[in-house]
Amino acid sequence: MPQHDSPAQSGHPTDAPETSSLESNTRLVWNPFLAEYTGQAPARMRRMELTDDCPFCADLTTGRVPPESQAWIRPNDFPALQPPNGECYLLIYSADHDRTFADLTVPEVVRIIGLWQRIYAELSPRYPCVMTWETSGEVIGQTQRHPHGQTYAVAIMPEMLGRELAAVERAESAGDLCPFCAEVRAESAGPRIVLEGAHWVGFIPAYARYPYQVRLTSRAHTSAITGIAEGEPMEELAAFLPRIIRAYNRAFQAPMPYMLALHQLADERFHLHVELLPVGRAPGKLKLAASCEMAWGFWMNDSFPEVKAAELRDYVRREEEERVVMEQLPAPAQRAIAAYREQFAPLTESEPLTVAWAPGRVNLIGEHTDYNDGFVLPVAVDRVIALAGQPHAGTTSRCYSVHHRQRHFFRSNRAALLAPDRRRRTPLWVRYIRGVLRELVARAATPQTPAFNAAIVGDVPVGGGMSSSAALDVAVATFAAALGGPRLSPLETALLCQRAEAASAGVHTGIMDQAIACLARADRALLLDCRSLRYEYIPVRLPGVVVAVFDTQVSRALASSGYNARRQQCEAATALLGRLVRADDASREIRALRDVTTDDLARYGARLPDPLLPRARHVVTENARVLAAAEALRAGDADRLGALLYASHASLRDDYEVSCLELDVVVEIAATVPGVLGARMMGGGFGGSALILVHQDTFEGLRDVLAAAYPARTGKRGELHRCQVSGGPESRVIALDKR
Ligand code: GLA
Repeated sequence: MPQHDSPAQSGHPTDAPETSSLESNTRLVWNPFLAEYTGQAPARMRRMELTDDCPFCADLTTGRVPPESQAWIRPNDFPALQPPNGECYLLIYSADHDRTFADLTVPEVVRIIGLWQRIYAELSPRYPCVMTWETSGEVIGQTQRHPHGQTYAVAIMPEMLGRELAAVERAESAGDLCPFCAEVRAESAGPRIVLEGAHWVGFIPAYARYPYQVRLTSRAHTSAITGIAEGEPMEELAAFLPRIIRAYNRAFQAPMPYMLALHQLADERFHLHVELLPVGRAPGKLKLAASCEMAWGFWMNDSFPEVKAAELRDYVRREEEERVVMEQLPAPAQRAIAAYREQFAPLTESEPLTVAWAPGRVNLIGEHTDYNDGFVLPVAVDRVIALAGQPHAGTTSRCYSVHHRQRHFFRSNRAALLAPDRRRRTPLWVRYIRGVLRELVARAATPQTPAFNAAIVGDVPVGGGMSSSAALDVAVATFAAALGGPRLSPLETALLCQRAEAASAGVHTGIMDQAIACLARADRALLLDCRSLRYEYIPVRLPGVVVAVFDTQVSRALASSGYNARRQQCEAATALLGRLVRADDASREIRALRDVTTDDLARYGARLPDPLLPRARHVVTENARVLAAAEALRAGDADRLGALLYASHASLRDDYEVSCLELDVVVEIAATVPGVLGARMMGGGFGGSALILVHQDTFEGLRDVLAAAYPARTGKRGELHRCQVSGGPESRVIALDKR
């Protein structure tokens, strides 16, 4: 151990005048009684604590790091040590502000271990000790939320490392094995193991000071992090560290403040190990340091390591099992579970968590044909609305919408649902949920859906023309079924959701959106006859072709649009044409525009008042285009399909008049890009999204062209999404821990 003759400025603090000029200085002060150094760095009091202006996010915009950097090292602006006593650095783990170390993936943690190696390699030739650590939690001094760790290179040997090194030296002079190697062998497969792999052993030391402290030691003898080889040894470490932290969070049912410290030295006799020190001793108890610990340095562990290790082992295992299940869920379902935990904690352990989701859709072709008993050809896409929650014994259901940041409750027993909703201010998203539950209780007295609490998250753009409302309706029906409510066939569910939508939003939609949300299959389009409700799946086999959707960012609210007006015009045209046709041929029945032919339009069209002829012409020609498109899809003829898309758009724009400037502009721009096969407005119209079929190699080019030309012509930004043709609704019941 260095004594007074260290590079530190030593002395008693009262020796120095209390002036602000001294504030930038840091110093190390020797304690002659305990034979250790204390650092002093008053300038650190000026740090901005947990500000909204994140200085690490600013690194990305101020040019401090290259723009694509995901992890970087930067000097600490408030160093606790200055040369020659030491140097301080920050290790920024992620460009994304809203993460924690425990959330990072294995490749991301591997990248961080790379930073640990780099900083060690740079500083260890100049300083006897390089302390690298990761912390979480304000109580132990975290002042920025952005995921980061720190490194102090220090000119003295910190007390603990000095004592560990002395143990290594004692073993050496006794001719014994490295004590860390010996400990790893002794602990392996023993009662204090928390988790172990081929390269790392994590255990609670027999002499642990704190109940949940874990030491993770490498099986191979190496003195520093630079000795950890890429590949398996590094990946195992990258997997184990966040797993242990997540187990802490689970043990304490909250993010547990911890320190994660690398003990390493250049001395090759030393053995690298990682100390994980959560500050909590027992859930619900705050006891950071007891008197005997602070005042005497005598640690008292109120537990046995074997017992705590068994507990942590179990948390690690359960956490891992849950993670595997979670990773298979669509992202919104995962987020709904997290939001549910946040909004409705504590979970009741007796009930498992139920999560259900349903997809948004892209209609390849067949617009405004569904309520005319015609044909449609939609696909579901890899965007869903998800609900996560639990049933309970009461009669009030509570829902939280992440999108709207609103929490709402309503009585959901049978009588209350059947009674009209008298609250005038019920938001639309709640009306949808209530509407589906209402239809469910209306059709059968049993089984009934219990009351529940749930969080709702989706990535189907709301008002984006991808039918987020049908996705929500179907997700609610699927959730209700999973909670023990009525189990209906996909078509029954679709019809029920259609009724619910009409009742709750006042929009008399066709069946397309609900049908595809219920019936979708991955990589298949649904050719649906909206009269007979017979359907056929057609494989979407268009190699190298991307289904892209451009959100015009013109929000369309079906209710306020001319949707219902178009529907009435179709009914009026049907009635008139019916009369005209039957006057000439009594054997024909015109129940809907589906029954009208192009010949009929040629013969009787002139007798229809404006604008019924163009409205009817759109429906009649669009039905023919759907059947032609189904043929093209069967034949894998992307060019033909594309041409039909353009024709559909022209008809919707000119005859049906449901397009808008922005949709027309997108289609026009897309048509100028080589590699675009076809484009058209999609859904009800008056805003929302356009569908673009484009060759994969042209997708990025199309994005660039739209990014430049669309705002120039519309003053709006818009956004291009690439969609996967995906499956229908699903639910899972997950046995989760309280957390
Ligand atoms: C909306 C409706 C559908 C359908 C389309 C237009 O999405 O919900 O039923 O009518 O418009 O094709």
